[in-house]
Amino acid sequence: MARLDVTEVFHGISFPGHLHTQESLEHALKFQFQDTDILIVSYPKSGTTWIQEIVTLISNRGDSHLSQTVPNWTRAPWLEQYYFTAVLEASSTTPRLITTHLPHHLLGPALQGTKAKVIYVSRNPKDVVVSYYHFHKMANFLPKVDTFAEFLKGFLEGTLHFGSWFDHIKGWTSPTAAIDNLLHITYEEMSLDLPGSIKRMSSFLQCPLVEDEVINCVKHCSFSSMRDNKMINYTLVSEDIMDHSKGSFMRKGEVGDWKHTFTEEQNQYFESIFTSKMQGCTLEFVWEKQ
Ligand code: A3P
Repeated sequence: MARLDVTEVFHGISFPGHLHTQESLEHALKFQFQDTDILIVSYPKSGTTWIQEIVTLISNRGDSHLSQTVPNWTRAPWLEQYYFTAVLEASSTTPRLITTHLPHHLLGPALQGTKAKVIYVSRNPKDVVVSYYHFHKMANFLPKVDTFAEFLKGFLEGTLHFGSWFDHIKGWTSPTAAIDNLLHITYEEMSLDLPGSIKRMSSFLQCPLVEDEVINCVKHCSFSSMRDNKMINYTLVSEDIMDHSKGSFMRKGEVGDWKHTFTEEQNQYFESIFTSKMQGCTLEFVWEKQ
C-alpha cells in the first residue's frame, strides 16, 4: 500500500494517495458501465455512506443481513480507488453498486450511452465544509488541518482533496450534463422525510417496496442504527488510517450544524463567494426547515 500522507494530483485535483493512483484514476475514466449498474455520486461529506446504506437496503427489500455483514467499501466500492477492480470481480452482488466522488467533467464521458442509474446526493455546503473539517482531524490520509478559517478558504477556493464543491454540483446537475437516469437527492430531504426519500429512490431504481419493507429500511438507516453498525461506521478501519480517538465518522448527522462553527463574518464571506460561483445555476436549494 502507498504511504498514507501522499497526495495524488490528477487533472489538477488532489486525491488521497494511499487509495488513489494515476492508474486507478485513469481506469475509472475508462470504466465500462453496464446498463444495470447503480452509481452513487457525491462530493465528500454529503451523505454518501447514507445512500450506500439506503440502496443496499432497498436492493434487499429492507433486509439488513448484507449491510450488517459486509463493509460498505466492499458492497459499494469506490470506482477511483486502486482496489476497485479486484473487489468488483470478487463481488456477486447484482445490480452492481458503485460509488464515486469524481466530478462530472472527468467521469461524464464514461457514462455516455449507458443506462446505468446515477444517484447524486448533495448537502448544504456549509454543513459539508464543517463535516469535512472534522473528518480531516481523524483521517490520517488527508492533509493536516490548521484553523477552520484556513480550511474554509481552501474549500471556497476548491483546493481541498476532491476539488471544488461548486464545480462538482454544477457539473453533475447541469441540464447539459445529458445523463438520462440521474436522480438528485439532498441530505436535507432525507433528514426531513426519510420514508419519502426511500420511496423516491426505490421507485427510481424500479424496485418498489411495500410499506413494511420501507419501515425496515428506515429502521436500519437511521443515524443511530448506522452509528452502531461496524460495517459502515468505519471503526473496522485501523487507527493509523483513521484515528478514532479524534472523532467519529458518524459524527452528528444534523442539518444546520454549520451554525455552531461559522462566525458571522465567515458566513458573509461564504455567501458572497457562493452567489458569484453559483451564478446561472437554476437549482433551488432547500437547506433549512421551512
Ligand atoms: P456529520 O459529520 O455532519 O455528522 P459521507 O458519507 O458523504 O462522508 O458523509 C458523512 C456525513 O453524513 C456525516 O456528517 C455523517 O454523520 C452523516 N451521516 C451518515 N449517515 C447518516 C444518517 N443515517 N443520518 C444522518 N446523517 C448521516
